[in-house]
Amino acid sequence: MATTLASSTSSLAVSIHEHKNPLAANVQLKGHGSFGRLSAAPAAVPPLTDGIRVVTAAEYKQAAACLAEAFAEDDVVWYPIKTPDRAHLSKEAQWALHVEILEYVTYSHILKGLVTTIGDFDAVALWMPPGQDMDDMVTKFRSGMWRLNYRLSPEGKRRYFTEFLPLLHDTKAATLGARDDESWYLVYIGTKPSAQGKGYCRKLIEHVTRQADGEGRATYLESSNDLNPRIYRRFGFETVRRVHLQRAERDVGLDIMVREPEIGGEVWGEK
Ligand SMILES: CC(C)(COP(=O)(O)OP(=O)(O)OC[C@H]1O[C@@H](n2cnc3c(N)ncnc32)[C@H](O)[C@@H]1OP(=O)(O)O)[C@@H](O)C(=O)NCCC(=O)NCCS
Repeated sequence: MATTLASSTSSLAVSIHEHKNPLAANVQLKGHGSFGRLSAAPAAVPPLTDGIRVVTAAEYKQAAACLAEAFAEDDVVWYPIKTPDRAHLSKEAQWALHVEILEYVTYSHILKGLVTTIGDFDAVALWMPPGQDMDDMVTKFRSGMWRLNYRLSPEGKRRYFTEFLPLLHDTKAATLGARDDESWYLVYIGTKPSAQGKGYCRKLIEHVTRQADGEGRATYLESSNDLNPRIYRRFGFETVRRVHLQRAERDVGLDIMVREPEIGGEVWGEK
C-alpha cells in the first residue's frame, strides 16, 4: 500500500510504502527546485553535498544507534530514564530504553522532518524544517512514540511529557515569536565518539544553514551540553537564553541558541 501525506504548510510530500512492520516503511522526501525568501515553502531536502545523505526509514535503527552512542553521557537524554522511581533498573535496561527513545524520535523525524547522516552513520542530525512538527497522532502512532506512555516510569512521564516537551515547545515559541513556524530547527545532532573532530558536525549543520541563508531563515537549537555552545558559535549560533529542568537533584540546563541567516557574509536584516 502506498500513502501520500501532504503537509498543509509546506511542499513536503512524504510517500510511504507500508511493510508488514510499520517501522520498516520506505520514505522518500521530495523537494521543489527553488525558493524565494520566506515567500515560498522550504526545501524538504537541501542539496546534498560533502557525502551527506538522507536517512531512509529502513535505516532508522543505525541512525538512532549513532545518536545513542553520541549522547551516552548527556544529562538531558537520561532525564526521563534515570528517575528515583526506577532506581532499581539495570544499566542494560537503562541503555535499552535510551536506544528505544532515540529510535522513536529518529523515526518521527524521518516521517515529518529531515534526518541526515555522513560516513557509516558516524554522525546524524535530526531536523524539523520550517512549518513542520511531529505532534500529530498519526506520527506518534507510526513512530512508536506512544509506547513511552507505557515504557517510562510515572516520574519519567512527568519529566518527559509534563515538563520537558512543554518547556521546549514554549521556549521555542517565546524565543522565535512570529518566526516559530518559519525557522529551521536542529533537534538532535551527534557524532560517534570515534568519529569526532573530523568535521562531520560542521558538514551536517552547514548543509542546512546554507539553505537557511538562501531562504533568509533563522536556525534554532537547544544545547544540552555545556561544552557545545562554543562549538555552535563557530557556525554562527548565539545563546539567547538558558532554561532549566527542575525535577532532578542537580541542575540540568539547556542553552537556547539561534543562528540568524547570513546574506553575502552579513547577518540577514542588518544594515
Ligand atoms: C558536539 C558534536 C556533535 C561535535 O561533532 P564533531 O563532528 O566532533 O564536530 P566537528 O568535527 O564538525 O567540529 C565542529 C567545530 O567545533 C570545534 N570543536 C569540536 N570539538 C571541540 C571541542 N571539544 N572544543 C572546542 N571546539 C571543538 C571544531 O574545531 C570545529 O570547528 P572548526 O570547523 O571551525 O575547526 C559532538 O562532539 C557530539 O556528538 N557530542 C556529543 C553529543 C552532543 O553533545 N550533541 C549535541 C547536543 S546539543
